[in-house]
Amino acid sequence: MTVQTVAVEPFDDQKPGTSGLRKKTRAFRRPHYLECFVQAIFDAIGGASGKTFVLGGDGRAFSPEAAQVILRMAAANGAARVIVGQGALLSTPAASHLIRKRGTDGGIILSASHNPGGEDGDFGVKFNTATGGPAPEPVTERIYAASRDLTDYRIMQTGDADLARLGTQAMGDMLIEVVDPVADYADLMENLFDFRAISALFQSGFRMRFDAMNAITGPYATEVLERRIGAPAGTVIRAVPLPDFGGAHPDPNPTWADTLMAEMMAPDGPDFGAASDGDGDRNMILGRGVYVSPSDSIAVLAANATLVPAYAAGLAGVARSMPTSAALDRVAAALDIECHETPTGWKFFSQLLDANRATLCGEESFGTGSNHVREKDGLWAVLMWLNILAERKESVREILEGHWRRFGRNYYSRHDYEALDAAVAERVVAGLRERLPTLAVQAIDGRTVVLADDFAYTDPVDGSVTPGQGLRIVFGDGARIILRKSGTGTEGATLRLYLERIVAGPDGLTEDAQEALAGIVALAEDLLRIKALSGRTGPDVIT
Ligand code: G1P
Ligand code: ZN
Repeated sequence: MTVQTVAVEPFDDQKPGTSGLRKKTRAFRRPHYLECFVQAIFDAIGGASGKTFVLGGDGRAFSPEAAQVILRMAAANGAARVIVGQGALLSTPAASHLIRKRGTDGGIILSASHNPGGEDGDFGVKFNTATGGPAPEPVTERIYAASRDLTDYRIMQTGDADLARLGTQAMGDMLIEVVDPVADYADLMENLFDFRAISALFQSGFRMRFDAMNAITGPYATEVLERRIGAPAGTVIRAVPLPDFGGAHPDPNPTWADTLMAEMMAPDGPDFGAASDGDGDRNMILGRGVYVSPSDSIAVLAANATLVPAYAAGLAGVARSMPTSAALDRVAAALDIECHETPTGWKFFSQLLDANRATLCGEESFGTGSNHVREKDGLWAVLMWLNILAERKESVREILEGHWRRFGRNYYSRHDYEALDAAVAERVVAGLRERLPTLAVQAIDGRTVVLADDFAYTDPVDGSVTPGQGLRIVFGDGARIILRKSGTGTEGATLRLYLERIVAGPDGLTEDAQEALAGIVALAEDLLRIKALSGRTGPDVIT
């Protein structure tokens, strides 16, 4: 087996976004493209020599080929061992857990998360560090710099590893250990939650539907919910991960999980519904006839966390991304714990989790998690809800409405304008940015603006400052309008408009969110003119 050094012209577009490098599958299939990015990762972390990595992903198209390339490159770069999920499969939270459990030097995750897959879809590569969390900004910056300076990459000339066979095999001096992708993760869940209480809930006739969206959570949810907890067979649907997710958009939201939505909104629907995304880190929570917004979900979980064995001793703190509603803040205030407001993206939570400044974290984008791993975790959130439902013996609707009565309700919605012309998106953002200083000193539509700025985050652990994280207009009554550009899209530019309004109660707590926010939506269009400037009649996705 010989190491081949391949001379290359570097690519100039390998800057990792909110969550790793995401491109069209076709772009990743171009000669040397994947190889250059992988070499940039190894170069950026001081080489792979003697190191151990975890490797796996959501099984989307190009994953099997990519895994073989990465193994050959790891071997050529001197890695000691790579622990691979059987079939190159690992959900993102399971990969994070494996990195931590085995004390590896990091891991490479093959996924573009909730983006569609297949030959016409997206592919992605993400590096996680030894903490199990996504590489922080300084590391992704180094990867980008290394990708631009690249002159060659190293790859072993050898045949494919057998990733179907559990156990250890050699590739040159490197060991490849193929492991069951589900077992360790399922054990972890069993340690965190009261499976017996959840089991009893199912035995009492509780009905659930889990939509795995033809993606990676299928095997995990089947093992945990059906085999270990004893939920009836068929509780998990679309349970087999497919390379193109069966043509579905593996994003668990009311738009893309519409069949599940319809089933849950029916009068005789199941008691509890949930869905997860391509790589298993997102979740959507539903009750019969009720949708739980992710911002409410993290607030409810925080308020009820001590009912769950793993969090019975209380929470060290909580954290949410800036655009996530402030529902969590009021729970934190009631519990008298810290509530951190971070930029979008899970990497900012890792530092807080490592320093034990936060125990639970959440994002409005269907991301919820805790200190058990360093990624958000879809199935974990579902089990949190199940454990709480089992303890409280109330329906999802009763828990949610009780929460609003106690804390007030943050009506919340995100409007996405997808694949806009990049220049148009920039005009919208630049237009608002220019006006921020004048907005900060006026009342708009009878509402006082108390803050109008471009969010900058100061990490409380290391003091580092991350500027430019989203434009926000905050009103005196707590209402907010936030605008930011997506960092995960692969086509044109996507604008995300986040809208929030607080109703303290006791009246007006159970209105339809879009209706309750209509005034704020109109105000946002007056200020931003997204529709006028883009020629669109409305958002593509509303969550
Ligand atoms: C989106 C979400 C963000 C999430 C990220 C990865 O990023 O908005 O909250 O962390 O996906 O799942 P965006 O496209 O907005 O940059
Ligand atoms: Zn994901």
